Amino acid sequence: MSNIKTVICPGSYDPITLGHIDVINRASKLFDKVIVVVMINDKKHYSFSTEERVDLIKQSVAHLNNVEVDYFDGLLAEYAKMHNAYAIVKGLRAMSDFEYEFQMALTNRKLNPDIETLFLTTKSEYMYLSSSMVKQIASMGGDISEFVPSIIHKRIIERLR
Ligand code: PNS
Repeated sequence: MSNIKTVICPGSYDPITLGHIDVINRASKLFDKVIVVVMINDKKHYSFSTEERVDLIKQSVAHLNNVEVDYFDGLLAEYAKMHNAYAIVKGLRAMSDFEYEFQMALTNRKLNPDIETLFLTTKSEYMYLSSSMVKQIASMGGDISEFVPSIIHKRIIERLR
């Protein structure tokens, strides 16, 4: 078995925000390899297509050389097994995230007992930040420059207005 510790940062990333980048950045310092995976749920309506979400992430993490970007239509526990992942890494914002994240972590462990879920607490300035908030502000013409990576800022605005 390889000694390389690969972790997975899953999410909808609709679109990626600076809160996500903070977690991915920190995971990339802690582990050998990080796979950011855009999960696809056919029952969910996304504002950005899978290709767009992947592309926006790729542009935003291009400076991190141990980070890869992928997408997957299926169970996260299955994806983790396929990639021999050491753990799933997620950001935890306020207590309001906790119940949902705890439920997902327990479900994933049930589906794949070998996989751990690790939580990184987000930086305080990103505690309130979410993709849906970014979308709402951008669609109403507000300033989102402090919420999304500067390299994708223009693309997000053009797309949502
Ligand atoms: O960014 P989000 O929307 O909070 O991410 C949620 C996500 C995509 C990580 C979660 O919905 C997920 O893991 N979906 C894949 C389907 C799955 O494995 N479901 C069972 C565990 S809850």
